[in-house]
Amino acid sequence: MSATPERAHWKSRFGFILAAAGSAVGLGNIWKFPYITGENGGGWFVLIYLACILLVGLPIMMAEIFIGRTAQKSPVGAFRDLSTPKSPWMLVGWLGVAAGFVILSYYSVVAGWAMHYTYLSATDAFAGKSPEQISSIFGELYTNTSLNLFWHGMFMLVTIGVVIGGVQQGVERCSKILMPALFLMMLILFGRAMTTDGFGQAFDFIFRGHAEKLTAAGVLEALGHAFFTLSLGMGAMITYGSYLQKDDDVVSTSVTISVLDTLIALLACMVLFPITFSHGMEPAAGPGLVFKNIPVALSQMPGTTFWATIFFALIVFAALTSAISLLEVAVSYFIDEKGWSRSKSTVVCGLAIALLGIPSAMSGGTGIFGEQFAKATEVIFGEGNGKNWFDLFDYLASNWMLPLGGLGIAMFVAWRVGPEARERGFKAGSKFGSLYWGWVALLRFLVPIGVVAVFLNAIGVMPRILQVIGLG
Ligand code: TRP
Repeated sequence: MSATPERAHWKSRFGFILAAAGSAVGLGNIWKFPYITGENGGGWFVLIYLACILLVGLPIMMAEIFIGRTAQKSPVGAFRDLSTPKSPWMLVGWLGVAAGFVILSYYSVVAGWAMHYTYLSATDAFAGKSPEQISSIFGELYTNTSLNLFWHGMFMLVTIGVVIGGVQQGVERCSKILMPALFLMMLILFGRAMTTDGFGQAFDFIFRGHAEKLTAAGVLEALGHAFFTLSLGMGAMITYGSYLQKDDDVVSTSVTISVLDTLIALLACMVLFPITFSHGMEPAAGPGLVFKNIPVALSQMPGTTFWATIFFALIVFAALTSAISLLEVAVSYFIDEKGWSRSKSTVVCGLAIALLGIPSAMSGGTGIFGEQFAKATEVIFGEGNGKNWFDLFDYLASNWMLPLGGLGIAMFVAWRVGPEARERGFKAGSKFGSLYWGWVALLRFLVPIGVVAVFLNAIGVMPRILQVIGLG
């Protein structure tokens, strides 16, 4: 073997934007954001989420892409190269690799649901059924352990297959066609939703403040989701950034990705909630929201089979481009740090994640990972609020691991990286050099203070501090 092979690079900056947007846009936008918005009562939750994207997510996205592009390495190695060997900052990289394992393990189960719904749509399972009958299909799937295991396994296999193909052939080619197609499909559905009678009510629900439903846990969820939806806090964007050329623009790339991602999330809400209200369904329907509502809406349109198949297939592809980035972090770690081949690394990591996902696939049932697990966790979350394995994994990863990782990344760039390299890196190839100090200030002060305050609030410490200093 020769010495280090030259690092693979994106064919074009456009290819990178599509791939990074492919990572960001996924189940987080279409499945998760609408349902947590529903559960948190819309309004204020959406506003706080948008503030988190702008003030916390965007600066961290720039920080991640900056780290990756500068170091030309995956997270762990990047932290080492930009500080010192054996530096404790490498912990942030390892936390990221661990978060990738955790997230993909349950993400794949949801992607499996989308695969099952694609299959149901293609075989005409929704035609001629009442809205109640269609809604009940989700419950049947959710509780069916073997079906969940099957689709989870299928999705992991496909993901492994794409990642083995390598950076350019696999990731870039997929994203180029399917992301725009998804966007188009959402626009078509949005056009449809505008004509339903629930549209006004939905608009009001999403954009008008309803403070009464918002809780400290909701704020933590909004923050956590800002990380999740932009693929931040675990080094996915560091890894993707490491395949960029040194003079690609960090700022405009980050803005483009964030705007696209936010647009699709809001669009998903504006498609789903009009349907919810028009049919007198529950906005707080939980994880089944998109799987119940879209088939109900489409079943009343001509061409149900066709449109439903396309819709769910596109969701599967959106999930795939995100899953690729989740797996890529772990895979590139073992390639860069342990000298494994790409195929060995992909197969080993992919299989490990598939195994780790088994309890998540079994979480809808009554067994030890499902209802029994939820019962046991009531000790922590209170009576009636227990979480099954799947919920617990999602909660831990999105609300704690990602914000913690993001905090580490922000602090690293703000306080540890050499100021000269940082300034040069931010300004390279960018028209937005004048934003440099604003970016550093956000990373230095607002991001750490904000994230820590939200953490303290969620643990219940913050209300006590406010009381003590006479503000609570
Ligand atoms: N952002 C993706 C979504 O919204 C999920 C995802 C992909 C992700 N890569 C990630 C989340 C890295 C956190 C970190 O569906």
